Amino acid sequence: MPQPPIAISFRPLVVSDLATLHEWLHRPHVSEWWGDPGTPEQVEQDYLPLTKKESTTRGYIALLENEPIGFIQSYVVMGSGDGWWKQETDPGARGIDQFLANAEQLGQGLGKAMIQAFMDWLFQDSTITKIQTDPAPENDRAIRCYRQVGFVEIGAVITPDGPALLMVKERSR
Ligand SMILES: CC(C)(COP(=O)(O)OP(=O)(O)OC[C@H]1O[C@@H](n2cnc3c(N)ncnc32)[C@H](O)[C@@H]1OP(=O)(O)O)[C@@H](O)C(=O)NCCC(=O)NCCS
Repeated sequence: MPQPPIAISFRPLVVSDLATLHEWLHRPHVSEWWGDPGTPEQVEQDYLPLTKKESTTRGYIALLENEPIGFIQSYVVMGSGDGWWKQETDPGARGIDQFLANAEQLGQGLGKAMIQAFMDWLFQDSTITKIQTDPAPENDRAIRCYRQVGFVEIGAVITPDGPALLMVKERSR
């Protein structure tokens, strides 16, 4: 029997989310791929800017039926700075990074649903041409998930955070 679509929505990250975000980032299935987030103060320093409207990187809490299930951030690729994506010349290119908060929800299709819903929302902005993501080359679960929502492998890249697999989803014509 066909399943009803999973109702996933997003709300902008706010200051009062930072303590929860710190706790999520310390969960082993997240820190395995996102690295050691450090102290609450470091998380505040790193993520408070993502709550600001003027920031080119914005953070969101993903909600499933109003329950928080994960974090996702989007960024303007061109002009990222600090050695990131120096070759990008398309102002319509966006990048995304994400994780599911609950280890027991991994590998069941929730990530695909979350990312698909987020990309559908991003592409409502007609100036956005493509969306990229850059998993670690050995993050097989993430790569498989990203392939299934239409990301195409562009190739291996070296980022300021180390080796990554650059994957891109172009806007559908
Ligand atoms: C990456 C992430 C968002 C993907 O969400 P998810 O719900 O786990 O992924 P999905 O279930 O939608 O898709 C994963 C696919 O990989 C498969 N898979 C699950 N575990 C796997 C593993 N250990 N190795 C390889 N493939 C795996 C799943 O079966 C599924 O494929 P299928 O649909 O063909 O069965 C989530 O796993 C996550 O938050 N991981 C921890 C943090 C992280 O890695 N973030 C991404 C950094 S780039």
